[in-house]
Amino acid sequence: MVVMKIHIVYAHPHAASLNAALRDEAVQTLEGLGHTVTVSDLYAMRWNPVADFDDFGIEAEGTFVGTAVGAFEADAMKADIKAEQEKLLAADAVVLQFPLWWFTVPAIMKGWIDRVFNVGFGYGVNRAWKRYGDGVLAGKRAMVLVTTGAAESHLSDRGINGSIDDLLFPLQHGVLFYTGMQVLPPEVVTGAHLIDESGYADTVKRLRSRLETLAETEPIAYRKQAEDYDEDKRLKPGLEPEGATGFALHLA
Ligand SMILES: Cc1cc2nc3c(=O)[nH]c(=O)nc-3n(C[C@H](O)[C@H](O)[C@H](O)COP(=O)(O)O)c2cc1C
Repeated sequence: MVVMKIHIVYAHPHAASLNAALRDEAVQTLEGLGHTVTVSDLYAMRWNPVADFDDFGIEAEGTFVGTAVGAFEADAMKADIKAEQEKLLAADAVVLQFPLWWFTVPAIMKGWIDRVFNVGFGYGVNRAWKRYGDGVLAGKRAMVLVTTGAAESHLSDRGINGSIDDLLFPLQHGVLFYTGMQVLPPEVVTGAHLIDESGYADTVKRLRSRLETLAETEPIAYRKQAEDYDEDKRLKPGLEPEGATGFALHLA
């Protein structure tokens, strides 16, 4: 088995939540497998989620303080951001764990994304615009672990909430794949508030099996910017899966 460094970015305010219990199970499982685990518990860290110009090495609107490499190497980089970037750089795999709030990540995690994936790290690397399957985090694996109030059917293809693949597209494709990571299928715990003891046991069993196969699981087959898109960043003709529209266009 491949031994990995796994970084969990965790957003939930309550220690007595389902999410907290699943995080503890995840850490225990991964450490039991011999992996090294680090956790950024965003509420416990009192993470500042509000991005501001000085986070980006920008003194005033439109003026970069950083060198050609951008803020990644700029002295202006805030220590809290730098620490998170270093945790990501050290990791082989990253897990983002959160409850689905208003169809997306809790604001504190959105603010972690806004501030940590800044210029020269999340995008604009060497001003070369490597992205979508390429970038600073290329070669790392990423997985979303999300709990939802909605039942599975509500998140299915014809579900009233839209399909979970569509809801997670901005995060999985627009953030994790964009920054270079290979995105594994998400682990989605639906109907979270209705889970009883046996449902919890099943949930933990499924989660463990996902974590046990983290190194081998086939990533979602998103298409790569460098190969599959024309100079206007449109998918080259003929590459779309038959009948696909919308987000599903971007799957091989
Ligand atoms: C502010 C807020 C917004 C929520 N929005 C959604 C939502 O958009 N879709 C959904 O399925 N559940 C939603 N829920 C339900 C949570 O996802 C659910 O309570 C959580 O996953 C349960 O896990 P926990 O016990 O660890 O909090 C929301 C809950 C809160 C508090």
